[in-house]
Amino acid sequence: MLRALSVPSIQLSLLFFLISTVHVVVNGDIQKGFYVVFLRDFSIDEVSMLQSHINVLSTLKESEVDAKESHVYSYTKSFNAFAAKLSEDEAKKLSSMDGVLSVFPNQYHKLHTTKSWKFIGLTQTARRNLKVESNIIVGLFDTGITPQSDSFKDDGLDPIPSRWKGSCAHFANFSGCNRKLIGAKYFKLDQIPDPNDILSPVDVDGHGTHTSSTLAGTIVPNANLFGLARGKARGAVPSARVAMYKVCWASSGCSGMDVLAAFDEAIHDGVDVISISIGGFLGSYADDPIAIGAFHAMKKGIITVASAGNDGPTLRSVENHAPWILTVGASGIDRGFRGKVVLGNRQIFSGIGMNAFDPKQISYPLVTGADVAQASASKDSASYCLENTMDPKKVKGKLVHCKLASWGADSVIKGLGGIGTIIESEVFLDVAQIYMAPATMVNTSTGKIIDSYIHSVRYCQFRLLY
Ligand SMILES: *[C@@H]1O[C@H](CO)[C@@H](O)[C@H](O)[C@H]1NC(C)=O
Ligand SMILES: *[C@@H]1O[C@H](CO)[C@@H](O)[C@H](O)[C@H]1NC(C)=O
Repeated sequence: MLRALSVPSIQLSLLFFLISTVHVVVNGDIQKGFYVVFLRDFSIDEVSMLQSHINVLSTLKESEVDAKESHVYSYTKSFNAFAAKLSEDEAKKLSSMDGVLSVFPNQYHKLHTTKSWKFIGLTQTARRNLKVESNIIVGLFDTGITPQSDSFKDDGLDPIPSRWKGSCAHFANFSGCNRKLIGAKYFKLDQIPDPNDILSPVDVDGHGTHTSSTLAGTIVPNANLFGLARGKARGAVPSARVAMYKVCWASSGCSGMDVLAAFDEAIHDGVDVISISIGGFLGSYADDPIAIGAFHAMKKGIITVASAGNDGPTLRSVENHAPWILTVGASGIDRGFRGKVVLGNRQIFSGIGMNAFDPKQISYPLVTGADVAQASASKDSASYCLENTMDPKKVKGKLVHCKLASWGADSVIKGLGGIGTIIESEVFLDVAQIYMAPATMVNTSTGKIIDSYIHSVRYCQFRLLY
């Protein structure tokens, strides 16, 4: 099934990523996982820190060969830590060894996002010191970046600030940096191949390009999506510089040890601000890579700005709340992408969704998924318009009313020759989805009215206006 994606920089987009923990099985049954180990003393001598990491592991493993095999990465630029593949027992032993500050398992996390400046009153003329602004370097930890985007053109920008120590090498599918996008790196310490992503700072998801342009994108006039939401796209500080540290991967999400590697580098590279729209780190601050990294950043005078998450309004749903982080909550916005549902009896309802389709007819026959269930499928599963539950002959040429189970009903209906769909849901009603075929989402009370209309007349019709 296709996942309907929300679109960067146009709306408040919620991105859902599976959180998974990866365990690597070595030597038969012994479950080894990735752990991050923090050591007490930071020295400026990178070589001696590296050696001390191997020494600690050698003591644990009683062999330098085994130590080197389990060693994954050393954080030596801004703090003293390493990542290693360990068993639970080994991790426990390590945590009581001399000089070891903390040991915690690596976790994989999910993406968050940010929103619009005009809405919060930061107008384009609310500039302070243009020279200072253009010297700000923002480090983003995200899914990567699309360097070709108009938001990262460098027209009129001064040369890269000379204090910048970061880099931007040549990578697969990555066209390179300029005076706006001044750094690009990626971190994938687990080395587990991701068939849906590329080992490069390039953004195959869109989230990182969205967050980067929201923060520091240059002004792009006449931005729009299929003619919708036309306007100027711009970042909060359109002249600031961007450095991307890709730590989030399409299949696995964002790994804690990669986030720490990004902190280690970004602090050293000379960013002024670190921006993170990632969450889902459970546990105490001492086990939370964002809290730990932000703490080290703060010690160097670098502020970390992090998203509070896309959850709520339930209690304790705010994330990234360490007191040394500037935590930014998402909100609603004074703009919606709506489509009107006009029933044959002239009742009109307003649904949510991005539509850029041109209907051929004024109206179409309307059915529910359950009405067009295949003989072999239950009416219940057909009411969610799941794949292989509906009879294509009965769907063809019609609009279908579906309850929301997972994203993709619109493409299922389209695949069966249907015209479009009304999706009924009690959640996600503040997010305009993009659909493969004409579609809009209504709440359950509206859904019930539509359902009873369908079943109260012999031939029901419906049209979508947008
Ligand atoms: C990466 O580049 C290759 C070769 O040009 C291309 O086939 C592929 O579609 C690109 N992938 C992405 C995600 O841009
Ligand atoms: C459902 O949506 C309709 C139409 O937008 C709105 O008038 C109504 O208040 C909503 N009902 C609930 C329970 O949110």
